[in-house]
Amino acid sequence: MPHLIIDDIPVDVPEGTTVIEAAEQAGIMIPRFCYLKALGSVGACRMCAVSFLAGPVKGIEMSCMVKAVDGMVISTTDNEAVAFRRQMIEWLMVNHPHDCPVCDEGGQCLLQDETISGGHQSRRFPGKKRTYPDQDLGPFIQHEMNRCIHCYRCARFYQEYAGYRDFGVMRLGNRVYYGRFSDGALENPFAGNLVDICPTGVFTDKPARYKARRWDMQRAATLCLHCCLGCNTTVSAFHQAIVRQEARENSAINGSFICDRGRFGGLYPNHAERPRTPKVDGGDAQWQQALDAAVARLQQIVETSGPGAVAVLGSTRASMETMAMLHRCCRELRWSAPSCFVDPGLERKIQRAIARLDGTLAITLGEVEHADFILVVGADPVNEAPMLALALRQAARQG
Ligand code: SF4
Ligand code: FES
Repeated sequence: MPHLIIDDIPVDVPEGTTVIEAAEQAGIMIPRFCYLKALGSVGACRMCAVSFLAGPVKGIEMSCMVKAVDGMVISTTDNEAVAFRRQMIEWLMVNHPHDCPVCDEGGQCLLQDETISGGHQSRRFPGKKRTYPDQDLGPFIQHEMNRCIHCYRCARFYQEYAGYRDFGVMRLGNRVYYGRFSDGALENPFAGNLVDICPTGVFTDKPARYKARRWDMQRAATLCLHCCLGCNTTVSAFHQAIVRQEARENSAINGSFICDRGRFGGLYPNHAERPRTPKVDGGDAQWQQALDAAVARLQQIVETSGPGAVAVLGSTRASMETMAMLHRCCRELRWSAPSCFVDPGLERKIQRAIARLDGTLAITLGEVEHADFILVVGADPVNEAPMLALALRQAARQG
């Protein structure tokens, strides 16, 4: 197990760990654009430069490309390393537009954060910025290629990780272009992850466009409802409307990603025709008046016929939090347990399946990714539980 010292902090890491990962274990976040845990290292952006002071490697090297070995002494704050990283930002900003005020990524942009924290303030190069045409990538993702910093995260995710081929890298050198090879919407049912992984604003969430800045939104951790997997997500709301849903890291379930159905399929609570005003006996009422009326009638039923006389219907479209509250109400008020199914046959089938998951049958998606033999019987993962398909692909990629 290599033992190394990073910024005076000793750290032991498993064999094969890169220096950028070792630093994370020591609580040090080295700047990065191209490195992403799920995608690995390619050394494309040169933003993770650190100084190697002692050990087998010496001088400035990319921390994502060097494996940690015994005896390394590394500084992330050494003048030379800081100057190197500052220079990288200056070069990136030669072409990146200064359009943060109109860019939806503003406030949640890695490039913006690194530019500001690195102290870059003015552009010395007097020439024109590089510009590109954008593509219409479909209803969910907005494309703004001028903001690209050529880190390759998008193409690596799209082609290598997810296995789709309609999008990728074109052209050469300073003109490298990331887009669709022919006109049309993105075909990848996981394409929404481009929004999360692009370190700048090339891909932004189209339905959420111009709705609110990140700091204006209320954000909460939740679980996706669209299939049985329970991917971890973060939901953002503004003025009591859901604006967007993003992936939330959970290595046992969804890793760093979610499917597009989960990401873009959760906006139905905002439906314009959804009833917004409570009614009592058919007439509009104030919320408190409606709640008081509901409490009075339920109490009346319980007093005359007992708590078992109250039947509770849940919904597979309600959030986990709502369903948990419903269960709690039933438990504490001794009503019958909520039913979420209109088809009793389907309910029985699901209850039987759940009863068989005895702790050895059920495995995590993380375990699926590392399985050496997988038999899929009578299932259509992409349509029934999309992130399972992505996990199956990772197992296949590993041979
Ligand atoms: Fe990186 Fe974004 Fe450019 Fe792709 S589009 S190379 S993710 S900056
Ligand atoms: Fe290491 Fe990009 S993060 S070179």
